[in-house]
Amino acid sequence: MSAQVRLSLEGVTHRFGKVTALDSVNLAIEEGELVTLLGPSGCGKTTLLRIIAGFVLPTEGRVVVEGQDVTRVPPHKRPVNMVFQRAALFPHLDVRANIAFGLQVAGIRGAEADERIAEALRLVRLEGYEQRRAHELSGGQMQRVALARALVNRPRVLLLDEPLSALDLKIRLEMEVELRRLHRETGATFVYVTHDQREALALSDRIVVFNNGQIEQVGAPDEIYHEPASPFAARFVGDANVVAAKVVSIEGGSATVTVGSHRLAVPSGSDVPVGDAWLVLRPEVVRVSAAGSDGLPGTVLDAAFRGTGHSYRIAVDGIADPMKAEMAAEHGKPFAVGDTVFVQWASSACRLIPAGASSVADAPTVEGVAR
Ligand SMILES: Nc1ncnc2c1ncn2[C@@H]1O[C@H](COP(=O)(O)OP(=O)(O)OP(=O)(O)O)[C@@H](O)[C@H]1O
Ligand SMILES: [Mg+2]
Repeated sequence: MSAQVRLSLEGVTHRFGKVTALDSVNLAIEEGELVTLLGPSGCGKTTLLRIIAGFVLPTEGRVVVEGQDVTRVPPHKRPVNMVFQRAALFPHLDVRANIAFGLQVAGIRGAEADERIAEALRLVRLEGYEQRRAHELSGGQMQRVALARALVNRPRVLLLDEPLSALDLKIRLEMEVELRRLHRETGATFVYVTHDQREALALSDRIVVFNNGQIEQVGAPDEIYHEPASPFAARFVGDANVVAAKVVSIEGGSATVTVGSHRLAVPSGSDVPVGDAWLVLRPEVVRVSAAGSDGLPGTVLDAAFRGTGHSYRIAVDGIADPMKAEMAAEHGKPFAVGDTVFVQWASSACRLIPAGASSVADAPTVEGVAR
């Protein structure tokens, strides 16, 4: 069974004067999919949503919804609705009137309007709040009203621009559950923008990793997590150690690589040539053991208790950045700052990326991008 393409972006490029905000973006999104655009601040996420919604005419390229080129169709005539980065409710109107606003623009009144408003309130679980004003609502409730205002038009495509970024973590986690339910119940295609990778992993059918106005990788969350196409994608989706390595030889699916003065055997991807490469290691596959064991010698720089275990930063000879390791609680007595340790990993647990796949210098550390 092949799903219908509901939204496609064809060669979408947008320039603000000399700034290229989007550079030849090609993307097809299927009926009922929840796709997340993930990328650092300023990489073009909001600009792309505004182009899909019709608020911005792209410099080049086309927006196609259900087979129809809508590039030049005005926003209110597209089967698309947007929830903005900063949801502004009309303060002088109550919840009901805020939601009804979208319908008035579309010319829907009377019994049909009443029915649609009741449905939208039910979807966001705000029945009984019709008469409240914006200042009488919590942040999470305001965001629900903003969602209801978009859903009341029964859009085929719902665009959500960081709708949860202003909320605290506990409410955000609750709203994520609500968004997944809304997505199931409405059957709409959701295009969700965030720069919170945890949110992207939790919500998405597919994640589109953006960097500098270009698509860096598209894939299911687990695919991007386990097989990042570039150091940027590796560091942006989940935490990762990205280590400079040299591929010395490749034989039968296994590569011999050197990391500093250490020699290791690792599985080689089909596209990794002999020469410079990056070795990607998720912190949870890095094993730390006491002095005297095998592995690369290092010194503990930082140790933190994480509830389910401990996380460490370890200076390892021949590796430029401190290595991050996450150890489950059962690994025994935790290590302390200054301890000499040995760092190991299962060779099957790391991934080699050719050095050509974007510069590691472009890759922000997770601390630099997470909020
Ligand atoms: N109206 C505008 N005029 C000029 N430049 C703009 C305009 N809007 C956005 N830009 C620039 O285009 C680039 C992309 O901006 P955009 O708002 O799409 O980023 P974003 O990925 O949504 O970032 P954030 O995560 O901070 O919301 C940025 O360099 C930004 O400064
Ligand atoms: Mg934005």
